[in-house]
Amino acid sequence: MKSVVIEQPGKLVIQERQLQEPEAGEVRVKVTAAGICGSDGHIYHGSNPFAKYPRVIGHEFFGTIDAVGAGVDAARKGERVSVDPVVSCGTCYPCSVGRPNVCTSLQVIGVHRDGGFSEYACVPAKNAYTIPASIPDAIATMIEPFTIAANITGHLKPTKEDVALVYGAGPMGLTVIQALKGVYGVKQVIVADFVLERLTLAQESGADLVINNSNLSLPEELKKLNISPTLIVDAACHPSILQEAISLASPAARIGLMGFSTDPCTIIQQGITSKELSIFSSRLNNGRFPQVIEWIEKGMIQPEKLITHRFPYTDVEAALELFEKDQSSCCKILLKF
Ligand code: NAI
Ligand code: MN
Ligand code: ZN
Repeated sequence: MKSVVIEQPGKLVIQERQLQEPEAGEVRVKVTAAGICGSDGHIYHGSNPFAKYPRVIGHEFFGTIDAVGAGVDAARKGERVSVDPVVSCGTCYPCSVGRPNVCTSLQVIGVHRDGGFSEYACVPAKNAYTIPASIPDAIATMIEPFTIAANITGHLKPTKEDVALVYGAGPMGLTVIQALKGVYGVKQVIVADFVLERLTLAQESGADLVINNSNLSLPEELKKLNISPTLIVDAACHPSILQEAISLASPAARIGLMGFSTDPCTIIQQGITSKELSIFSSRLNNGRFPQVIEWIEKGMIQPEKLITHRFPYTDVEAALELFEKDQSSCCKILLKF
């Protein structure tokens, strides 16, 4: 089988590897499609602190089960599945309180262990979620990025009364925007980004108001409009954003963070406590695949709106380059296997 391997930072090869047999409790997925995510590029360039090399990248993928390991129902062969990349121990404290996404021995498929940019991938059977026939392959490939939105909104508990502000209209911001509008019916969603084309995508995904804060001051714009957001999501993930969000937030607002920056950020505690703000962080997803599958079946989200490009996996290097260099034309790229 062919696999996309990062042999060491900066070195990507499409390698012929021996087809693996699924171990006990595993299924083998014949991969049909996979999505490119920012973190794939980080592993490629050596800026993901969790990655070990060589590594088959890819954690957003879909395919068909073609073999099962011991203890797995053979009837699963032929099932169309999307794979949850979160592999957890099931017994540590976070696992015991329903937070397997921060398991003390967390293994993310495509990061800590080999992933889905490969003709075949062996994964734990319970990570392979059956996809209803009504959901096309490309949409099923987009489930994982929407589980990120399901997870953060699970913490933030949006309501119809909320006025939400989303920083960043990249793939992550767009999944959050679609969830806020399509799933929770949030009254108003305001989106800030520096890239005009991304703000257009935000509008297409349901944003009520978009602000290009590369040339406008977001605090001043919101002040003019007399808007104090009751819910803020930082999907741009620059360390400077948290303090701005704290100062813009309405009293009793909730703020959601998803960034992994290692740079310090300065925040003023009084700004949090005087408004009794709640600040949540969110990492990956805790068993949210069924929830997103239901969102898609009910027509609450439109993952296809994020897909801007499709490439054969043999062009993965060109696809990664486009993804990283052209934020104005590029959102989600799917690789076809
Ligand atoms: P992206 O880089 O494609 O999008 C970020 C967007 O934010 C860009 O369009 C950029 O123009 C905009 N932006 C940057 N600074 C801004 C500012 N000050 N104000 C407004 N907009 C600003 O990235 P993507 O894929 O959407 O991911 C976003 C972040 O989410 C990344 O930092 C990534 O590491 C993180 N992430 C976190 C996950 C989690 O589970 N916590 C999962 C996946 C991604
Ligand atoms: Mn991803
Ligand atoms: Zn655990």
